Amino acid sequence: EEVARQELGSLRGIPLYQCFVQGWPQVEAFRARPDDLLVATYPKSGTTWLSEILDLIYHDGDVEKCRRDAIFNRVPFLEMKAPKMPSGVELLEKTPSPRLVKTHLPVHLLPASFQDNGCKVIYMARNPKDVVISYYYFYQMAKMHPDPGTLGEFLETFLAGKVAYGSWYEHVQGWWEKKQEKQLLYLFYEDMKKDPWQEVQKILRFLGKEMEEEVVARILHHTSFQEMKKNPAANYETIPRALMDHSLSPFLRKGISGDWKNHFTVAQNERFDQHYREHMVGSDLRFQMEV
Ligand code: PPS
Repeated sequence: EEVARQELGSLRGIPLYQCFVQGWPQVEAFRARPDDLLVATYPKSGTTWLSEILDLIYHDGDVEKCRRDAIFNRVPFLEMKAPKMPSGVELLEKTPSPRLVKTHLPVHLLPASFQDNGCKVIYMARNPKDVVISYYYFYQMAKMHPDPGTLGEFLETFLAGKVAYGSWYEHVQGWWEKKQEKQLLYLFYEDMKKDPWQEVQKILRFLGKEMEEEVVARILHHTSFQEMKKNPAANYETIPRALMDHSLSPFLRKGISGDWKNHFTVAQNERFDQHYREHMVGSDLRFQMEV
């Protein structure tokens, strides 16, 4: 049966799926463990990619172990709540330590327990032009979203911060301001595309873990877009079809930087650039719009 498209609810002023809003008390009361590692992102910024890399690092590059379950069970989604499914918090309670935890929450809504327990966080950001394109396809295939309308309409919804999880600017900037605290590693999707070897070294250093070059090479191969796309444990194809319809758009869609160029009109791009300049004023955060 189909999940009916619904308007978004609101969590403390942040647009969010109504189900998630209803489940919020359980999330707010979540008890983190000191060895939890949080994978934080704005949606469509490389969460699944980073999660797969981390699960492989945690299992010393053992590819078979990382096929033990779907990525959304191996790295539970903290604030997830949907009918007839265990919530993110319920999944996490059954997950043995050390746990990997996925969230899209803006930093100011993160449950206090993560901070109180000194948990490490890896944040990954992606340039907003590719985020909005990826999000547009995701709105179409994942039926918990309202109808996105035309791309032109969706661009305006995104720029106005009225998509799920709200303003991209506030999200990337809010987490960026937290990076002074040394428990936070801030990564970029574009860097990971350009030089995954270097980014994995950053992750290993951050985790205080040593790894043979051969194992790193195996991890990079297994987490390439092509490999993940055909891996049922990584490509979301096992999620109930009522939630995501991969015939409309696959979850692992293109996996490139600069796909916005295949979608934006010249006018839309100018509008976006103008808005971006106005909203990034005063920030030292810089994005590469392509690599
Ligand atoms: S979600 O729903 O927010 O958790 O989605 P998220 O995983 O953050 O983002 C999905 C986009 O990431 C791309 N992706 C990858 N790119 C490169 N390499 C690898 N291995 C990879 N895995 C996932 C995925 O294709 C989505 O981007 P688009 O641009 O739509 O292809």
